[in-house]
Amino acid sequence: MSIGSLAEEVARRRTFAIISHPDAGKTTLTEKLLLFGGAIQQAGTVKARKSAKHATSDWMEVEKQRGISVSSSVMQFDYVGHTINLLDTPGHEDFSEDTYRVLTAVDAAVMVIDAAKGVEERTIKLLDVCRMRNTPIITFINKLDREVREPISLIEEVELVLKIDCAPLAWPLGMGKRFRGVFDLRHDRLLRFAAGESRVSTDEELIEGLDNPRLDELFPDEIGALRGEVELMRAASAPFDVELFLAGMQTPVLFGSAINNFGVREILQALVDWAPAPQPRQAASREVRPDEPAFTGFVFKIQANMDPRHRDRIAFLRICSGRYEPGCRVVHQRTGRELKLAHALSFMANERVASESAVAGDIIGLHNHGQLQIGDTLTEGEKLAFRGIPYFAPEIFRVARARDPFKAKQLAKGLKELGEEGAIQVFNNAMGHLLLGAVGPLQFEIVAHRLQTEYQVDAVYDVSDTNLARWLVFPDEAARKKFEREQAHRLALDVDGNPVYLAPNRYNLQVTMEAWPAVRFLATREHGERLA
Ligand code: G4P
Repeated sequence: MSIGSLAEEVARRRTFAIISHPDAGKTTLTEKLLLFGGAIQQAGTVKARKSAKHATSDWMEVEKQRGISVSSSVMQFDYVGHTINLLDTPGHEDFSEDTYRVLTAVDAAVMVIDAAKGVEERTIKLLDVCRMRNTPIITFINKLDREVREPISLIEEVELVLKIDCAPLAWPLGMGKRFRGVFDLRHDRLLRFAAGESRVSTDEELIEGLDNPRLDELFPDEIGALRGEVELMRAASAPFDVELFLAGMQTPVLFGSAINNFGVREILQALVDWAPAPQPRQAASREVRPDEPAFTGFVFKIQANMDPRHRDRIAFLRICSGRYEPGCRVVHQRTGRELKLAHALSFMANERVASESAVAGDIIGLHNHGQLQIGDTLTEGEKLAFRGIPYFAPEIFRVARARDPFKAKQLAKGLKELGEEGAIQVFNNAMGHLLLGAVGPLQFEIVAHRLQTEYQVDAVYDVSDTNLARWLVFPDEAARKKFEREQAHRLALDVDGNPVYLAPNRYNLQVTMEAWPAVRFLATREHGERLA
């Protein structure tokens, strides 16, 4: 594809993630999108990587998932003149922090809903995260080839539970064995269902017009109901409004069956037609436009490389403006150091290649030996700090200590690095304990495994009496000192040196908050943020 001006190139980028509850069909849809994008020729290649999903305590499986996901964390492909960046989100709920951070690097999301199950718990959480930035959402209701719930009740549920207006773009004709297709409400035609498999077929049948007698001929038993429902839909639901979609207030809804390739093209078309090109990004001092010539970007994910012996890690950087070219020089804002970016990676469907040029919306991978952390900003020199990459207060805690006391230093180093990577949160308390905080228990298992294999530390993980953590913001220095004196045993510092209150239970937290009304107790904070 030819390289145009920066603004033109940015305008044809679409950067998005798929959000869903496990088993709704994210992996299947990812693969089909790659298939339709021509990035893979046959389905079945991506599928293998979800093998670890159910084996939560199997080291090797976890390793495998972690390793493989390095190469599939970002998938870039071209589709009808556009460059699409699909960012993968980890499947397992224990990696939800990682998922939340990935969502800060996209401009849109595709929400997949299992039509038999409706809105599920993880979808609710993920949508909440999208809402923090008003990310536009395209909804895909999947698995219409099964006996599923009535479409109308699914729409109602999305509106009620997720609190977002729905604008159905099509309406299904039948379901399960009697799934016949979807009626395109905007173009007034029926796209007839044909079961697809591992390859793309091009002989899709369209029947124009809801009154077309051919529909009566083909579907004498079902067409009456469809006509009624379409009429109802057109009368009852608001038409699709791209402005509302871009504001995150309305979601266009498509129905289909990912496994049958049905509805996949429509998702790609919706992304190309309506999803926003890379958006301006808010930095602490100003907003950065994607077509500004100077290069800027931020790190949203760090992942250990596949080969643990090398211990090199890849920092995933979302470009916010300018252009990456091999050899470009940037300033690492947190340390003020100059870096030469020589061998950045681009991520194709199933391989990574040396990036030759990348612009806003693209993700590049930077080899990293510990200097880059999640939330770090790179610029050509301007002092900037991109905002909005969240840390969530952990929900489970363990105290780590080395089995061999002589390895204490090694343990601290390993945990510091894993903490920087975002694999786990690490807190140091006044007694010199290393407290680990996680969102899901699997995170502890992975950290234990990695400490052993990458840092040669055998550690013991004791149960902690901490069950809740809150970041603290003090109104002034005097308040800080007083709190530190009186609550010393419940205080710790996070990786960035921010004070954290560690509560044994909700009651304790409540009482402490009431006793210190001027102190703020935060359940989230931003990466790299130093709280006052
Ligand atoms: P996930 O990544 O969101 O967890 O979901 P994934 O794509 O792995 O899909 C979960 C299950 O749903 C898979 O079945 C998959 O084949 C099935 N599935 C996905 N899309 C459709 C669809 O359109 N129709 C139907 N009927 N099924 C669909 P599985 O039995 O768990 O795995 P597998 O044995 O197929 O690998």
